[in-house]
Amino acid sequence: MKTRITELFGIKHPVIQGGMHFVGLAEMAAAVSNAGGLGIITGLTQPTPEALAKEIAKCNGMTDKPFGVNLTFLPGFANPPYPEYIDAIIAGGVKIVETAGRSPEAYMPKMKEAGIKVIHKCTSVRHSLKAERIGCDAVSVDGFECGGHPGEDDIPNMILLPRAAEELKVPFVASGGMGTASQLVAALALGADGINMGTRFIATKEAPVHENVKKALIAASELDTRLIMRPLRNTERVLANAAVDKIVEIEKTKGAATTIDDIKELVGGVYPRVMQGGDMDAGAWSCGMVAGLIHDIPTCKELIEGMVAEAEQIIRKRLEGFLAA
Ligand SMILES: Cc1cc2nc3c(=O)[nH]c(=O)nc-3n(C[C@H](O)[C@H](O)[C@H](O)COP(=O)(O)O)c2cc1C
Repeated sequence: MKTRITELFGIKHPVIQGGMHFVGLAEMAAAVSNAGGLGIITGLTQPTPEALAKEIAKCNGMTDKPFGVNLTFLPGFANPPYPEYIDAIIAGGVKIVETAGRSPEAYMPKMKEAGIKVIHKCTSVRHSLKAERIGCDAVSVDGFECGGHPGEDDIPNMILLPRAAEELKVPFVASGGMGTASQLVAALALGADGINMGTRFIATKEAPVHENVKKALIAASELDTRLIMRPLRNTERVLANAAVDKIVEIEKTKGAATTIDDIKELVGGVYPRVMQGGDMDAGAWSCGMVAGLIHDIPTCKELIEGMVAEAEQIIRKRLEGFLAA
């Protein structure tokens, strides 16, 4: 398939692996890029810019295809040394950055001067338009279904994607809930130039996470995610577990008075314990509703090539067939 996204990033298939804390390591990004998609290393999983430089070097040794780095601009209280992380990205020769969270505006000149293409992840049309205005090359439009932070507007992709298509001039990918060939075709029909997947890529052979995580995704249905941190206006979609039940209970009891301190133990420092240790009840970790559509653990190549081949069949046979009829 050839779309504005495959052209922009120099990739074979219009499939991106979104940044994922403690999942987006060199092994993950290289596997996706080698399969013809765009793999992305999660910048802030690396504790320092020096560690990120090493992870980029490792990925460079594992693939000769383009890959990107995710930079998540966290809400106010945390302030990692972003300029130094960007220096590591530039020095490592990485030409694609996926930004997320707060606006990347302050860092755009530095990235643009280095010839980096920026794709910003947005959960609304207004944020997508702002991304376009400040010079982002593309947008990842993240619907309410998504694993991670869906924002506070609660607009699912069936509405959000065609709304984005009405307004955006830069290409965008559909993010949130994506995991199958039919969804890829639907996303293209709704105006996107490709898809971004998070949760689906965790259930792949190469994903560098504990087997328990992959098994949990296969066991989960579309009913098994929960929204937490709504009272903090930092909503996150996570997989239900014992810790998440506690968070939901605390938030129900305290309502608008909930503070981060009330749930800190259950949301802080969780990722290494889940992703590396396989402790599935350690706390809250991001997971999308697409878990209900995950039934196997393929290689990234099998997943991406299988999706694209089936998408072509759907277009040529099923959709063409309606016209003939
Ligand atoms: C375990 C996990 C960790 C994530 N961590 C990040 C992150 O650190 N930064 C970020 O921008 N997005 C993060 N995301 C969001 C993904 O990049 C992607 O936007 C999202 O998963 C898309 O929805 P899907 O899971 O339905 O495919 C994470 C998602 C998951 C499932």
